[in-house]
Amino acid sequence: MTTTPYRADLLSDTLTRPTPAMREAMVRAEVGDDVFGEDPTLRALEERVADLLGHEAALFTPSGSMANQLGVRLHVRPGEELVGDSLAHVVRAELGAAAVLSGISSRTWVSARGRFRAADAASLMITGVGPYQVCTSLVIVENTHNFGGGTVQSLDEIRAARGLTRERGVAMHLDGARLFNASIASGVPVGDYGREFDTVSICLSKGLGAPVGSVLVGSADAMAESRIWRKRFGGGMRQAGVLAAAGLYALDHHVDRLADDHARARRAATAMAEAAPGSVDLDTVETNIVLVDVAAAGWTSADFVAAALEQGVRTYAVGPASVRLVWHLDVDDAATDAAVDVLTQLLGRAAVHA
Ligand SMILES: Cc1ncc(COP(=O)(O)O)c(C=O)c1O
Repeated sequence: MTTTPYRADLLSDTLTRPTPAMREAMVRAEVGDDVFGEDPTLRALEERVADLLGHEAALFTPSGSMANQLGVRLHVRPGEELVGDSLAHVVRAELGAAAVLSGISSRTWVSARGRFRAADAASLMITGVGPYQVCTSLVIVENTHNFGGGTVQSLDEIRAARGLTRERGVAMHLDGARLFNASIASGVPVGDYGREFDTVSICLSKGLGAPVGSVLVGSADAMAESRIWRKRFGGGMRQAGVLAAAGLYALDHHVDRLADDHARARRAATAMAEAAPGSVDLDTVETNIVLVDVAAAGWTSADFVAAALEQGVRTYAVGPASVRLVWHLDVDDAATDAAVDVLTQLLGRAAVHA
């Protein structure tokens, strides 16, 4: 059922296919029309996620991008701005949605591997300038940080930012597409992160292995308003309980196992760091994502990705010198061994290649 043409597919943790047991849960789901608020399985998922993240209410969305953009829409009026780091998914990978759908602008700070620091947010926020400058209405934090390489954010920095933003009437939204990875790696419960934000999005379709779906949480009023905007964005769904059932299954069975993905990522990273010193900084391998500096081994990322693919290992070039590897439910120990063989051999060829 989970056949793949690759020996190891490390392209993304969005690739996972529902397991037989998850499919079974989907088949059995009780459903209704969610636009009329009548899908019991969806209600159960929303209540569960709101509770887990320490918020009043939740809203299921078809994608993480929609959950993030509903958060943006909620907090930032047309003509105002959000601030975030320059590698944030909301800024870089949602195709300008904040500008197109909400009529707002975005400003960014540059961070090391997406690591969030309250001082960076403080340095950009502009408030109380009346009709003279664009007002900052929202700070975005991403945890873990995707393009930063799976970086886990510090709760202390988040709390410091929360203090500053509260004083200045600025909202905070957490892009928690991989919040469960952060929680498993740090031991901080997802609710401890979640309570520091006005709204939080989480994805069920990344490391948790569901085929579709994200959830936005916030106050009951905020979620009632987001429900209207979700319909306006074309995201009102009918018998979506089949998807919610996959999400509930994932929360029951696929959270603790994220530790396995983290361990495999670290094992592979360690082997690559040994094969080609300088290619992987082990201090930065925190969760299921590994960034490899292939230039340190004499490669361009495009050539490296092509060479790995020829040997059945799919990876992703995130920059001219940087290749991203992502571990997930469909990469087991055997696939990790195959990836280690291929990638260490390619990295070790550095001298010859250079
Ligand atoms: C950090 C982060 N946020 C949001 C998203 C968007 O999720 P989706 O692809 O479901 O829109 C992604 C997707 O990879 C992501 O990595």
